[in-house]
Amino acid sequence: MAHHLRPLFLRPPVPSTAVRLSLVLGLVMALVVSVVAVAGLAAQAPSRTVWDGVYTEAQAARGATVYAAQCAGCHLQTLAGSEAAPALVGDQFNATWENGSIADLFERIRVSMPVDRPGSLSRRQTADIVAYMLSVGRFPSGAAPLDTQSELLQIRYLSSRP
Ligand code: HEC
Repeated sequence: MAHHLRPLFLRPPVPSTAVRLSLVLGLVMALVVSVVAVAGLAAQAPSRTVWDGVYTEAQAARGATVYAAQCAGCHLQTLAGSEAAPALVGDQFNATWENGSIADLFERIRVSMPVDRPGSLSRRQTADIVAYMLSVGRFPSGAAPLDTQSELLQIRYLSSRP
């Protein structure tokens, strides 16, 4: 039997307009659902704030030691800042970081501080310093330490209790 004589009825059926329309609608719906889901995630991402007890006292105490050695020379032990080094607590700091994420603050410090030795802090030292900054800023401590992975630091900085 010759192959080119394949009978017509074996051709795949052409989808009807209704079937094609429902496929397109299905795709559009899937897209809408995923866009809504992503938007929802983005909106609720930093569900924790610095008022939720996001560091421990012990961690802040460790951070105080690292801070004294690595940061106080420029930012002062009170965190009030001096000359070019801005304050790390108070109105100016609040204005800069209001609604910002602790993940960004953590990365800012980890990557760029101390100015004269950027990148020299470990993740743990960086988390400890942020804990110390939060304790000096009078944010409450809690039961679990601040994490050292930025993706787990989706914590919103709010200068006043929400
Ligand atoms: C040699 C001086 C010096 C040292 C040491 C230093 N800093 Fe800084 N820091 C600066 C200067 C200057 C700026 C502003 C310019 C810049 O960001 O580079 C700054 C900016 C910052 C900012 C940004 C402040 C804001 O309002 O956004 C943070 C946070 C910070 N430093 C934290 C630290 C921490 C934590 C340490 C210790 C690990 C540290 N710095 C050590 C000089 C210093």
